[in-house]
Amino acid sequence: MRISINLIKDMKQKGEKITMLTAYDYTTAKIIDEAGIPLILVGDSLGNVVLGYESTIPVTMADMLHHTKAVARGSRKAMVIGDLPFMTYHISSEDALRNSARFIQEGNAQAVKLEGGVNVADKVRKIVDCGIPVMGHIGLTPQSINQLGGFKVQGKSLEAARKLIDDAKALEEAGAFAVVLETVPAPLATFISQSINIPTIGIGAGAGCDGQVQVVSDILGLFTDFVPRHAKQYARIADIMSNAITEYYNDVKAGSFPTDKQSFSMDESIIAELERR
Ligand code: KIV
Repeated sequence: MRISINLIKDMKQKGEKITMLTAYDYTTAKIIDEAGIPLILVGDSLGNVVLGYESTIPVTMADMLHHTKAVARGSRKAMVIGDLPFMTYHISSEDALRNSARFIQEGNAQAVKLEGGVNVADKVRKIVDCGIPVMGHIGLTPQSINQLGGFKVQGKSLEAARKLIDDAKALEEAGAFAVVLETVPAPLATFISQSINIPTIGIGAGAGCDGQVQVVSDILGLFTDFVPRHAKQYARIADIMSNAITEYYNDVKAGSFPTDKQSFSMDESIIAELERR
C-alpha cells in the first residue's frame, strides 16, 4: 500500500516532520522511494530543471503525464502527486476535473497539486468531491510569475499576510489535504501552520512548517543555472557527472575504452573464414 493522505495528516497531529521531494523520472523516483520519502511531487518545475524553459508556464499536460507515469513506475510506497500545469484548472471546473482525473487514471498518481487559494477553492472542492486528493500551493506561485512581478518573498505586509492566511483556510475548508507555502517569511509560515489543521509543506518558508519540499535537482547540485536561496546542496552531482563524462571522452580518444572487459568474443575460425572470401 502507498502512503495515504490520512497518514500524512496524522503526521502533523503527532508532530512528525513530513518530507517531500520532486522527481521527474523512473530512476530518481526509485532512489527517493527507497530512501523512505513519503511524498513525491512531479512538479511543473520539470519545465525549468528538465526541459530547460525559463518558467513553468510552457509546461503542458502531455509533458506532465509522460513524467508522472515514469515516477509512478519507479516508486512503490510514496504518494505520487501530479502538479496541474498552467491554465489546466482555471478556465472551468470541467477542465480542473478532467485534468486531475488524467493524472490519476493515465499518470498513475494518487493526488494532484494546484496553485492558488481563495481563487481556486471552488475547483479544489469539486476535485476532492470526485475522490481525488488535492494539495494546495500558496505564497510564491510560479505560474503567476508575471502577475507577481518576479520571484519575491510573499506576505510581508499586513494585508498580504492576511490574504495568505485566508488562502490557507480556504484550501483547508475546500478539502485540501495539505498546502505548500513557498517563499513566505518564516514567522508567517509558522503562524499559518498553527492556524490550520492540515499540514503545511514549506519551501523557503522556514522550519516552522509541518514539512519541507525541495526540487531534487537543487539539493543534488544537478541543476547549475542558479541555486535558489532556499535550497541546500547536499551533493554536487553535476561535478561528478562532468568529471565522469570528461574521463570517458579522454578514454575513447586515447583508445583505452572499451577494453576486452567491455567487449564480446567469438570463434576466431569464423573471422578466418570471412577473410578467405
Ligand atoms: O513544481 C514544483 O517543483 C513545485 C515545488 C517547488 C513545490 O511546485
